Amino acid sequence: MGKAIARRFLKKGYEVLGWNRTRKKAEELVTEGLIILDSPAAIGEQADVIFLAVADSPAVEAVLFSENGLLKSLKEGTIVINISTIMPGDAIRFHKAIKEHGAYYIDCPVLGSPRDIEQGKLIILFGGDQNLLSKVRSLLEDLGEKIFYMGDVGKASAMKLIFNMVSPSLVILLGEAINMGIKAGLDVDKVVEVLSEGPLRSAIERYHHKIMNPNPPVTFTLRLMVKDLEYANRFAYELGMPLFIPATAKNIYSIALANGLGDEYHARVYKVLKRISGLE
Ligand SMILES: NC(=O)c1ccc[n+]([C@@H]2O[C@H](COP(=O)([O-])OP(=O)(O)OC[C@H]3O[C@@H](n4cnc5c(N)ncnc54)[C@H](OP(=O)(O)O)[C@@H]3O)[C@@H](O)[C@H]2O)c1
Repeated sequence: MGKAIARRFLKKGYEVLGWNRTRKKAEELVTEGLIILDSPAAIGEQADVIFLAVADSPAVEAVLFSENGLLKSLKEGTIVINISTIMPGDAIRFHKAIKEHGAYYIDCPVLGSPRDIEQGKLIILFGGDQNLLSKVRSLLEDLGEKIFYMGDVGKASAMKLIFNMVSPSLVILLGEAINMGIKAGLDVDKVVEVLSEGPLRSAIERYHHKIMNPNPPVTFTLRLMVKDLEYANRFAYELGMPLFIPATAKNIYSIALANGLGDEYHARVYKVLKRISGLE
């Protein structure tokens, strides 16, 4: 996601400074104009607006608070836009730490893939001061076609967790429906065609090719989906409510993770469903 954001801003003509823990992965963008710096602190010394796009809450923590972290150098007035999917409580904690430096934090998780970024089609969830939204709106509109103002910091992250517990649950349901069709001796294409007449239509259109394809493009890893489901379940605990379907989805995705599918596209969880249904 970070690479796609940098590429999009370079195409739009901005000067872009970048840092990635594994430098090599950023180097491919140097020919497109990216200036790679050696640490988050080095970025903080120069940048006015900083996008964070890292795996999870501990990764954001490392980028902010480590020895050469962003907080070592953050200038007053700098705006930090965090698009990573993290725990809502952590978003509030990061916001407070950044505010102490006279800088601003935007809780800004996104819906969409790296390809959506490259086409400016992200859906952006915004949590934070509404005055900040007017300051960064044009930048965000370079990345996305829709911005939802969700409220204070933490609210956008809560919405993101809610969004991301639905799609893996649908993938599991769809995989089970397809498997039942196969076991019942039905033609899979027909099963998919008939299912498309029901309420799952858009999930089927979105996922059935990716479920059936053993090598779909890896736009969102299974490892990250386990993280998002873990966060959704943790958040439900914090809110004092039960969560049934996403808890089951998390366990099935965790089986896939434990069986080496972590770096594959998340819908490859279907491989596990096939195996436990005796179809593989
Ligand atoms: N991919 C999507 O479609 C999508 C959509 C919406 C939201 N998101 C969210 O956006 C974030 C990034 O996703 P992605 O798909 O770009 O993930 P990714 O390709 O797996 O990249 C993860 C990034 O996090 C960095 N990272 C991990 N642990 C770190 C640490 N301890 N310190 C510093 N950097 C660390 C990695 O650095 P290295 O390169 O050194 O490993 C890498 O740059 C995640 O929170 C994800 O949930 C993704």
